[in-house]
Order: sequence, then C-alpha cells, then structure tokens
Amino acid sequence: MKHFTSFHDVDDLSALLEDAFSFKKNPFAYDELGKRKTLGLVFLSSSLRTRLSTQKAALNLGMSVMVLNIETEGWKLETQDGEIMDGTNTEHVKDAAAVMGQYCDIIGIQSVPPGVGMLERDVDYADALLKQFVRYAGVPIINLQSAILHPLQSFADLITIEELKEIQKPKVVLSWAPHVMPMTQAIPNSFLQWMNNADVELVVAQPEGYELSSEFVGKAEVIHNQNEGLLGADFVYAKSWCSYNRYGEMPSVKEDWRITREKMNHTNNAFFMHSLPIRRNVIATDEVLDSPRSIVHRQAGNRLYATQAVLKSILKSNNGSNKTSAYAFQASLF
Ligand code: CP
Repeated sequence: MKHFTSFHDVDDLSALLEDAFSFKKNPFAYDELGKRKTLGLVFLSSSLRTRLSTQKAALNLGMSVMVLNIETEGWKLETQDGEIMDGTNTEHVKDAAAVMGQYCDIIGIQSVPPGVGMLERDVDYADALLKQFVRYAGVPIINLQSAILHPLQSFADLITIEELKEIQKPKVVLSWAPHVMPMTQAIPNSFLQWMNNADVELVVAQPEGYELSSEFVGKAEVIHNQNEGLLGADFVYAKSWCSYNRYGEMPSVKEDWRITREKMNHTNNAFFMHSLPIRRNVIATDEVLDSPRSIVHRQAGNRLYATQAVLKSILKSNNGSNKTSAYAFQASLF
C-alpha cells in the first residue's frame, strides 16, 4: 500500500484483515520492520484513540514517532494555491508538507477542522489538506480522520464485526442518534464505505433530513423508522451526523432516536457499537453502553491492530525506496 487515505487504497482487504488478526495474537511479530523509520503525526483537533493507538502501533513495529499539534504548535497553514499570504496564514501547506517529508518516512494527518469539525460542504468534501499532504510530502500519507472520512476507525470496526459475527452475513445497522451539536459525516461515510465492501446486510436507520451522500450509502437500505431498521439486527452502530443537504444543520426530529435497552430488544441480541467518544445518555443510555453486548471498548482496542496492519503494509511497500519529496523532485529537474 502506498498511502492509506480511504478504503480505496487497500489492495487486498483479506490480507490486511489477516495481518490485523495476527498482530492481535502477537503485536511484536514485526518489531524490527520500522527500525530507524520515523512516523510523523499531525493533529488539527482533539483526539484520544487515534493519537494513542497510532503511536503505540508504530512503537510496536520499532518506529520512532513525532507528534505535532499543528493548530497550537505549528504555523497557521495556507491551503489555497497562488494566495498572496498577507493575512493570518504564515506557512503554505506545500512547504510544511514537503519539509515534514524530509524528517518523516510516513506521515499521518488528522485534518478535522477544530471546533465542530466542519466548514462548508464543498470545502470539507474537497479534503484539500489531506490531498495536499499526499501531493507535497513525498512520503506515504495516512488519513487519521478528515472531515469526511475516518478509515482507520472503519477498519477497526470491520475487524470487530469479523471477530464477533455469529453468522456469515450479519445484519449491520448504522443508526443516526441525537447529539448536542452538529457532527461531521466522517464516521458514517467511512463506515458505509467499508461495510459496502464487506459480506453484510447493510441498513441505515435515519430520520428524514439526515440523508448521507449517495456515494457512501451505496447498496445500504435506508429506513426512516428506527425500530423497523433495528429489527433483527446483529450489530447496531450508533452515530450522530449533520444534514448533508442542509450541510452543518440539525433538522428537528420529533421521535427519541437515542439507543435504549427497549430499542435493542428489537434486535437479534445485537452487539452495540460506537466509535467513541460518546455522550452517554444522549446517544445511547448507560444501560446499553454498560451491557455485556456493548463492544465499544473492543472497537477502540482494535484501532491498534488496524493501524499496525496498515503501517506494516506501507512499510513493506516502501522499504528500500528513496524518498521523493516535492523539493527533491524539483531539484532533480535541474
Ligand atoms: N474514535 C476516534 O477517532 O477517537 P478520537 O477522536 O479520540 O481519536
């Protein structure tokens, strides 16, 4: 694998899953693979799981890790080409990425805008910062979450479903849930992208007005009645997201879409999933979260093995190859 920006970068999903399961049995199987290699991690927003699991995964492979909280520790980045930079943005992303590529063998970037994590729909869906890092860093790039995708989370979710499923083709329901503020579509988009490539019966339960981009919904059946959607589910994945058509808004919803024990009773004794962090008793009740069928901590634990499998694949593909940073490429032209 050259980069890991979305599901589409995965060459062989079965092999990647196998690697993740192997790492779960023996996390130190490849503890020399990343020796003398450096992973740079860039964060724009808060993070607990991504930050820690990615560092741990790199350490397990023998890599060194550097972390830059770019909003507070770096220069304010400009992303527009040709901009006269006489405002508040001090450094162009094409320079920042190219320089980081000189110090790092792989770069992970969490490009979620600070605050509610959303700008305008066209801006978010262009995923410019991530794409510019791919273009200018000259080293493999891992998407640690953007405003529209979170592939490491989704891979961990798939690992979790694969290890717990009790039938070949389980019914997996992604259910919208309430929140105190509008949330990005990164988790649902990404989850649907991965689940559309898995052997599952896929349902999205959501109120009217919360449609997701059809690009990500794919073959999933969309149901607007939550109890109907949950009927017979083997896995229930709760997540809040904002409206796509009225981007950034939260159209009012009359019914209570929180996941409760009563609602879980409509399922086939389903496992309950969420990417965390979760606002307890807003998205799902304590009763659901603390029940034996809640697998939210297992999902978070599997982030480690998902990331180790991705890093291994990138290290193997790129081992021995010389870096071709944008500057090195420019220099080679002269
Ligand atoms: N699920 C997830 O990515 O969590 P963090 O934002 O805490 O990293």
